[in-house]
Amino acid sequence: MAYALLRQPGAAVGCVGHRGAKGHAPENTLASFNRGYEIGVLAVETDVHLSKDGELIAIHDHTVDRTTNGHGFVKDLTLAELKQLDAGSWFDPQFAGEQVPTLRELLAWAVDRVPVAIEIKNGPIYYPGIAGKVIDLLREFAMLDKAIVISFDHLVLREAKLIEPKLVTGILYVGGLVDPVAAARLAGAASINPHWAYITPALVQEAHAAGIAVSAWNPNDLPTIRMLAHMGVDSIGSDFPDLFAQI
Ligand code: G3P
Ligand code: CA
Repeated sequence: MAYALLRQPGAAVGCVGHRGAKGHAPENTLASFNRGYEIGVLAVETDVHLSKDGELIAIHDHTVDRTTNGHGFVKDLTLAELKQLDAGSWFDPQFAGEQVPTLRELLAWAVDRVPVAIEIKNGPIYYPGIAGKVIDLLREFAMLDKAIVISFDHLVLREAKLIEPKLVTGILYVGGLVDPVAAARLAGAASINPHWAYITPALVQEAHAAGIAVSAWNPNDLPTIRMLAHMGVDSIGSDFPDLFAQI
């Protein structure tokens, strides 16, 4: 299933399952991605870092401390060390034994199920070559049209587009940009991905007039989701994808 970036007229707003379904299961685990998929999300979102031995790892923080029983920076741990960690018990004992997935494992699971939004976590720790590694994996799984690569680091998105012009990207940001369409174009992005609080009807109109999609992150309450849907945003990230059944 291709990634539907722009909402079709009359279609419901798309839900991007934030870190899978972060409100229901331990974030960025296969249990969480599967929960989002079962709910029927447009895409599952994940965050990627590089391990010490250069493997793409699906995890939000630069360290494993908050979301596993381990300690230390992802960049200082090997894949084998990361695989020893329990990434589920901190959330609920029923998820004991959930592993930190690699992006490879996530794509292998997702390829016949659901598109993926991959957030490259560059800064303050930078991962040289991470864009190329993400693209290599998307090519390997033939998922270039089933994924979007997003980042707060617009430079890495520009680098990614130079490596693979067919890649679809979106600029993440927090705040009111003077010219968000220009910012997207400078990065080569097809989507603007602002924090929801900075989305206005005028911004949505401006982006759509330029052929650029708008994807909000990450409201977790129904009134805000409804308000954004009414403004015409194309998709909305949320920890609670189940809420979208009510709009
Ligand atoms: O989808 C964007 C959103 O995930 C960005 O914030 O901190 O949850 O990665 P964060
Ligand atoms: Ca993210």
